[in-house]
Amino acid sequence: IYVSAKNLWEKTMQIRTVGVVGAGTMGNGIAQVLATHGLEVWLADVSETVLTRGLEAIRNSLERLIRKGTLPEDARDATLGRIHPTTVLAALAPCQLVVEAATENADIKQGIFKALDDVLPAEAILATNTSSISLTRIAAWSRRPERVIGMHFMNPVPVMQLVEVIRALQTDDATHAAVTGLAEALGKTPVTVRDGAGFVSNRVLMPMINEAAFVLYENLATAEDIDTVMKLGMNHPIGPLALADLIGLDTCLSIMDILYTEFRDSKYRACPLLVQMVQAGRLGRKSGQGFYRY
Ligand code: CAA
Repeated sequence: IYVSAKNLWEKTMQIRTVGVVGAGTMGNGIAQVLATHGLEVWLADVSETVLTRGLEAIRNSLERLIRKGTLPEDARDATLGRIHPTTVLAALAPCQLVVEAATENADIKQGIFKALDDVLPAEAILATNTSSISLTRIAAWSRRPERVIGMHFMNPVPVMQLVEVIRALQTDDATHAAVTGLAEALGKTPVTVRDGAGFVSNRVLMPMINEAAFVLYENLATAEDIDTVMKLGMNHPIGPLALADLIGLDTCLSIMDILYTEFRDSKYRACPLLVQMVQAGRLGRKSGQGFYRY
């Protein structure tokens, strides 16, 4: 997965400096993959603490990949040296592309898009890692809607092969080509989908996770047994409840709510247990407890 900066330059139409907004699980993973492949990365977050934790997560992930032999030993310092943390969005002014990976909340994302519009040159691309909010709606927040696109990475970003690329109604072909080229240069496989709630990934995945939560709620089996059925019976690498803990139950709930609102179909109704767990602060791995304890 280690590609020289020269190859990257040729493949990605002069994208050399990339901004990432949000240093949480997805943002720090995206920053890591970009920097490993030779790009200069400005990693922005409103919180110093989240930035520090994000950089620590990147260091740990790089060490895992080096131990495995996937990355050369000298890639750790070189990668970290290319990541510039900041709490100021204006620091992203030199970026040719920004990937927004903030909380899955439309108001927060809208604020970030408005601010980026003011800071970035007119031709810069605004990508978002949203997992479910309509890209057409997000593009309409910007004064450059044709340069807005979805770049949906999967968790854990350094390991997962897919980038779901979502075209808003407004996205132009040049933006689409630049972003799919970048995804390929990062060693990922882009799959382009049209805009629709949950896109393809979460339209299919989240109802499965929600159904697993219903099965637990109805006491048909333990969490472990539900996950074992899906692992051993369907060859999934981890069960749906363990996966929900990895993704974050708050994220799962917010995606179910968006599917429900957009399609107005009761089949997307969030499981009451999922709602309660989020209310109780049991958000999965990140809070130390979800369907399992960590
Ligand atoms: N950085 C670097 N390497 C990592 C890593 C990270 N953050 N996380 C895991 N790895 C590596 C490990 O080093 C290990 O490597 P080897 O097998 O070569 O030794 C490998 O990945 C497997 O890790 P583990 O042995 O710790 O655990 P595992 O076998 O359960 O694999 C997993 C972990 C790859 C995450 C696997 O469980 C899996 O594929 N899970 C499903 C993930 C998934 O479905 N993601 C999509 C979520 S949905 C989403 O992201 C979109 C959304 O909008 C919600």
